[in-house]
Amino acid sequence: MKPIRIALTKGRLEKDTVELFEKLGFHCEELHNKGRKLIFQVPDGNLEVVLAKAADVITYVEHGVCDVGVVGKDTIMEHGGSFFEVLDLGFGRCRFALCGPKGKDFYKGYAVKTIASKYPNVTRRFFAGKGMDVEIVKIEGSVELAPLLGLADGIVDIVETGSTLRENGLEVYEDVAPITARVIVNTASIKLRKQEIEQLLSKMEAAL
Ligand code: PRP
Repeated sequence: MKPIRIALTKGRLEKDTVELFEKLGFHCEELHNKGRKLIFQVPDGNLEVVLAKAADVITYVEHGVCDVGVVGKDTIMEHGGSFFEVLDLGFGRCRFALCGPKGKDFYKGYAVKTIASKYPNVTRRFFAGKGMDVEIVKIEGSVELAPLLGLADGIVDIVETGSTLRENGLEVYEDVAPITARVIVNTASIKLRKQEIEQLLSKMEAAL
């Protein structure tokens, strides 16, 4: 039978996801010795694994070239899309937070605040929910630099251990949303390959 094709987010979530597969009894040698390969076979799970950047995991699942994906809630919240989000894996735990220079009262004054973020959609929704008008500047990496350089009053970013904030004189002003890794499924695959996908999902759930 044709293997289920599953897209995994490389980097941060990769190790925990491979460990989960091993808990299910799948042999993941190829995933441990990757080299420059991009598609891997997990024969005892009848899986074909693709390693991709988080946003691309969503794109591949949306387009149906991958049946299943493992991706962070952060990317799901920012990117959106049409797929089913079916399981919270519990790992990759961190949060979105509004942060800025330590000791400052962020909400003081009437001037429109500038917020830097890699996640403009999440940021827009968060402030819209407060009825607060802000200017959003999109930054690609190390967003913490923006308030330090005087470009922004605050940032909306991922906080995991909090050390990046601490080491740069920043602090959390307010939590925005909790984040964990999620399993997503293509809208057609969930019907066409229902049994196999449900079997895989219940195995995953039991192993958590
Ligand atoms: C994330 C985030 C923070 C850091 C938070 O960046 O943007 O910079 O991790 O983690 P901490 O609370 O444990 O310090 P990431 O490492 O993903 O890299 P990038 O922003 O440079 O892409």
